[in-house]
Amino acid sequence: MKNLVVLISGRGSNLQAILHAAQQQGWMHAVRGVISNRADAGGLEFARAAGVPAQVVAHTEFPSREAFDRALAAAIDALGGDIVALCGFMRVLGAEFVARYAGRVVNIHPSLLPSFTGLHTHARALHEGVKWHGATVHLVSNELDHGPILAQAVVPVHDDDTPQSLAARVLVEEHRIYPPVVRALLEDRVVVDGLRTRILPAASER
Ligand code: GRF
Repeated sequence: MKNLVVLISGRGSNLQAILHAAQQQGWMHAVRGVISNRADAGGLEFARAAGVPAQVVAHTEFPSREAFDRALAAAIDALGGDIVALCGFMRVLGAEFVARYAGRVVNIHPSLLPSFTGLHTHARALHEGVKWHGATVHLVSNELDHGPILAQAVVPVHDDDTPQSLAARVLVEEHRIYPPVVRALLEDRVVVDGLRTRILPAASER
């Protein structure tokens, strides 16, 4: 099994879902560390309480995106990270970083990509009047929120939804779909062909 490093910026509920799955399914040994670009990220405390080393690499302490990315890469490599999972990590990673970890950085985005890339996805979905919304797990590429899609979940949009109520419905699905994809990457069960991907069954499911 490969080793995982998780990057966060805030609350860390997807990190919690991954750690919960890792504990329940016996792959906590693969979780090498959590890195936040913000010292006040709630997920740091949760990680430490779960026995996972957690550290801060503050983007504000670096003169450029490239310098921050290099410090981040050094921290990931020092932890022995093979796979990098972004869990609400709010910094755009530069081309050098993306190339260095090509096919090894995974993100969760709160929309049905390729619709609603970028920020404020729930408010924008309501504004556009879509009837279905959701979440996407994808590999990170150089085009923001456009890498190969690994998993998606769909939720209905209700007539009385607010961005908050819709976000809460999507978040439940995020927590459901993200951990199995992370596990599949750690177990080398992800096949990528251009933008198309498939996930091979776990050994226990074959
Ligand atoms: C999630 O909605 C995720 O899709 C987006 O940022 C949010 C992070 O939430 N990328 P959390 O920090 O995992 O609770």
